[in-house]
Parts: sequence; structure tokens; C-alpha cells
Amino acid sequence: MTPQAARCPFHGDPETNRADTGRDSGGQDQQAANHSRQASDYPVADWVDVAALASDPYPIYARLRAESPVAWVPQLNKFLVTNYTGCHAVEQDQEIFSAEVTGATMTRAIGARPMLRKDDPEHSADRAPMNPVLRPKSIKEVWGPVFEGNAETYLEKVAEIGPKEADLNRDYAAPLASQNLIDLLGLKDVSVEQVRRWSHDFIAGMGNVLDDPAIWERCDASTAEADRLLEELIPYYRQTPDASMVSAWANSGLPTSNVAANVKLTISGGMNEPQHMVTNMVWALSYHAEQSALVLTDPSLWAAAFDEAVRWQSPIGMYPRETTQETILEGVRIPAGAGIGVVVASANRDAAHFGDSAADFDINRPKRPHLAFGSGVHLCAGHWAAKTSIGQLAVPMAYERFPRLRVDEQRNESWDGWVFRGLTSLPVTWN
Ligand code: HEM
Repeated sequence: MTPQAARCPFHGDPETNRADTGRDSGGQDQQAANHSRQASDYPVADWVDVAALASDPYPIYARLRAESPVAWVPQLNKFLVTNYTGCHAVEQDQEIFSAEVTGATMTRAIGARPMLRKDDPEHSADRAPMNPVLRPKSIKEVWGPVFEGNAETYLEKVAEIGPKEADLNRDYAAPLASQNLIDLLGLKDVSVEQVRRWSHDFIAGMGNVLDDPAIWERCDASTAEADRLLEELIPYYRQTPDASMVSAWANSGLPTSNVAANVKLTISGGMNEPQHMVTNMVWALSYHAEQSALVLTDPSLWAAAFDEAVRWQSPIGMYPRETTQETILEGVRIPAGAGIGVVVASANRDAAHFGDSAADFDINRPKRPHLAFGSGVHLCAGHWAAKTSIGQLAVPMAYERFPRLRVDEQRNESWDGWVFRGLTSLPVTWN
């Protein structure tokens, strides 16, 4: 297992379904055996190299789309779905493609099943209370000024570090994403570093299919810290409600364990993707000078630049589902109880949907729906928050502060991951 693949925030074990089979936790080996017996029924992509996926997944996605957009990948113990119509069809049908794939690791890591591992109506009962907090009006009026203040704070720190040393991931994207999430959730008396540590530890726990005791120790310690805070915060917000997500959940009538699980899910997953979008956008604009010039002269193009960057380098590359019955997807027969990997990063480069230039970064491309935020009932709850905090504020403000902001090619950048992909360092300069 690659380190990055083990760090998927929302989904538990990304490479095998072993941790994700709450439905039948003892049946995994039998399931695998059934798959190999029936292998001739469906395309098998046993050539997929998981290490290569983590370093650069896009050539592998292109081959999968061309040869067999629904294929059994034995190394991952999953069917990977890599074209747009296939991924979209999975997302629209929770009766056949269930999100209830959580196994022991996700439940173990955050203490209970969160909304992302439930189908309706249980899923919508967990999600409904915090939807109003994340609607466009609330994001613009209540949270916009908060996100703006946070961006100013961390841009000041980047300026202090200077154009020879600054790393946009370490010095801006990561602390900013953490602080924005702390505010939006309404966490109190916690530091940016502490919440980042919780996020990393929960994610490591969700991927701990090999039961590494050291990982559980760290995850349990962070879970205990977060639970202690929530034990105080939930009653506090019942007495003193405000506009935050924890307040909305605390006053929803949901059991405390549901609230705590969903807060911990949000801590796990609501930080890395916004963080990656700050660096993805600056990286994409740095290497596309003409488009960068366009957006810097016409700020109304920032929304298109964000949307194109999240399509082109989707921070969440794949997420799991599980079939509840035998079904046919894109002409391929899939047995009941099969693990499905919905590879939205690949669907987002499908030429059948986006045209021949699907692999190019082009902020002027004709608007077509993409799947970077998912779709259907689990459509990302935080997508307006991300568009505003990153696409309208964090990145435009960085260019206002440093008009010549660009990748520093004298120092090395690094990318990692496929389930969850982003820049792990992005040296920048602006002189
Ligand atoms: C650019 C940034 C982001 C991206 C690309 C992203 C992507 C996604 C995707 C693809 C899903 C669906 C996963 C699935 O169906 O299995 C999802 C779900 C979710 N996201 Fe985001 N996300 C981002 C930012 C955020 C933020 C900032 C928050 C919190 C404030 C957030 C909270 C959630 C929650 C709670 C869910 C579960 C929704 C449900 O089960 O109904 N996300 N996200």
C-alpha cells in the first residue's frame, strides 16, 4: 500500500475493500474467490500498477477508459469505473451502488458510521442539519469575511518567509485550510497544528487495514482529544447556538455519537481537498502563462479557473461503493457484493464528455458538468465553502499580494497519490 493511498480522508481503505465491507465483514475471501471464478464474465485489468497509480495515475486512467472503463482490478479487489457515464450512473443509484461500505477501520477510527457511509434515509438525517450552514448565502455573508481574514493572516506569514524559502503548501495552503475548517465547524481552544494532526491521525486510522498498533495508538489519542472537546462543545452550543456546523448538529436532535462521527469525518476530509486546491490552482496557472494573464486581468474568470483546476487535477480521485445486487454497468455484468471504485479523476478527463482536449487545462473550455465534488446524494457538502474560500479568496488574494507569484523552478515540487492526490510541496517565488 502506498502511503498516500492509505490517507484517503472520506473513504477508509482505498486499495482493498477489506476495511470497507461492514455489510459482510467475514466474507471478503469468499468474495475474492467468487470474483476470480467469474473473471471471464468481465474485463480484468491485472496490469494496473498501484505504485505507478500513486506517482502519475493519468496514463493508467487513459488506458482503462480506452480498453475497459468498467474493469475488475484484482490488485485493488475492486471494479474500477473510469468513464464519465459509468461514474455518473453509479452516483445516481444508491440502491444498487451503496455507500454503506464502511468496515471496522472507519468505524474504529472515528467511533461510529458517518453520513458518507450511509444511504438514505439515514444519510439525509445526518446531513440535513448542517446544509443551511454551507449554503451559498451563508458562505458568502457569514463565512466569506472569516475566510478572507484567515487568508490575510497566512499571506503575511508567507511574506515574512520570503520568495527564496516559501513553500505554498506548508506555509499557506495547509494552515489556511485548517483554520478555515476550525472556524466553520466552530471548534474552540484548538490550534491549527492540533486539528491538522487529528485529521492526519483519523485518516491514517481509516486506512489501517493491517492493524498497525502504532497507527491505532495515534488515532485513538486524537479521537479521545476530539471527543473530549465535543463533549464540552455540544452542550455549549445547545445553550449558545451560533452559525457553525457543530452548533447546527448539536441542535438537530441527532444522538451525540452521530454528531461526533460527522464532525470527525469533516475534520478528516474537509481539510486536505481545499489545501490541495490552493496549490493545484497556482501550479496550473504557473505553467499556463496565457491563461494566467487572462485571469489576472479579468477577475470574473476566477470561478472558471477554480472549476477547471478541480476538474483537471481532482483532489479526490476515487471513492468506493458496493453493489447490493448483481447489475450491468456500461455493458459489464457485476456481481452482488462487489467493491466499486468510482474514479472521478478519470471521468473528469473523459474525451467522450469533455471533447478531445479533455486532458488539457483550459479555463475557456465550454462549461460541462464534472464530478470532482461527486454528484447524487453525497455531492460534497462543502463545495460552496471550497469554491468561495479557495477560488474566490485564497488564490486571488495570493496573486493580489504577490502579483508575480509562480512556481520556483529552482526548487523541487512533489505530487503524490491517486485516491487522494495533490502537491505535497510547492516552492514558490514572486520576485
Ligand atoms: C475542493 C475541495 C473539496 C473537494 C474536491 C471535495 C470532494 C468531495 C467528494 C468527491 C465527495 C463525495 C464522496 C463520495 O460520494 O463518496 C465529498 C463529500 C463530502 N464533503 Fe467534500 N470536498 C471538498 C471540500 C470540502 C469541505 C471544505 C468540506 C467541509 C466543510 C467538505 C465536506 C464534505 C462532506 C461532509 C461530505 C459528505 C457528504 C455526504 O455524504 O452527503 N468537503 N467531498
